[in-house]
Amino acid sequence: MDNSKKAAGMSISEADFRRLVSFVQSKYGIDLREKKQLITSRLSNTVKGMGFTSFTQYVDYLLKQGTGDDINALLSRLTTNYTYFMREVESFDYFYSTILPELVRAHQRDKSLSIWSAGCSSGEEPYNVSMYIMDYLGSQASQWDTRLLATDLSVEALNKARRGLYQLPDTIPAGWKKNYFVAAQGGQYTVAPKIKNNVLFRQFNLMDSIQFRRKFDLIFCRNVMIYFDQPTKDALVRRFYDATVPGGYLIISKAENLPPDTPYKRVATSIFRKK
Ligand SMILES: C[S@@+](CC[C@H](N)C(=O)[O-])C[C@H]1O[C@@H](n2cnc3c(N)ncnc32)[C@H](O)[C@@H]1O
Repeated sequence: MDNSKKAAGMSISEADFRRLVSFVQSKYGIDLREKKQLITSRLSNTVKGMGFTSFTQYVDYLLKQGTGDDINALLSRLTTNYTYFMREVESFDYFYSTILPELVRAHQRDKSLSIWSAGCSSGEEPYNVSMYIMDYLGSQASQWDTRLLATDLSVEALNKARRGLYQLPDTIPAGWKKNYFVAAQGGQYTVAPKIKNNVLFRQFNLMDSIQFRRKFDLIFCRNVMIYFDQPTKDALVRRFYDATVPGGYLIISKAENLPPDTPYKRVATSIFRKK
């Protein structure tokens, strides 16, 4: 008897595994071909909790009538939302010392920046960027539109981001803790309104075409493309390129790279510029 038919153990047959992998890959770009073990270990409880006794039933259901909530539950089990403040701080340093002064000069007239944190998870990255901007602009900040777009696929992560409640790491500068956070219960901190109001969180699947109102001066997309297969990554980087103003930037993570034939010019580790 096919093991996938049994409730106990919740193994997945090769056919169901392939159906699930190709569904997730085509819709969300996430490459699960090497993740069979992860699927059974992370999804078995979800499958049982939904009242199914096999992965076959679950995959049938998901492909034919899965709702947005079912998909969200699936993706939040299979992707990692791991993120933290001051992650890969060298990129933030470059942003603060080189990119931001350039953008502020270029936007002296319209006083409006256009920055996107793509795959923002629970919000630490865009809030962090916002803190650098506030520091840089100082008392001038109120004259600028410094709102950032921050998107993710995961509704759970976005809810956490909107709440803005964190256990802060020691790497957060003491001055920021004081200026940009409000102490909450249990040693946690909430992001202060002047930073929170500066980040617009939206759900967005990076597999979709990019049709935001403006082109971006800078896109952060760090530790997201690691989940994607090469053609998906290449296509996304091309869409980022098209959605960026000439001379605009793309920041990825140290764990990632762009294809050698990318039209972007590398200007620093993990930092690329549109020609
Ligand atoms: C590891 S977190 C990265 C967070 C942050 N950028 C950082 O570097 O710390 C990866 C995020 O990518 C999101 N993600 C994965 N696939 C996605 C897709 N197709 N569209 C949008 N976001 C996606 C996940 O939900 C997750 O929150």
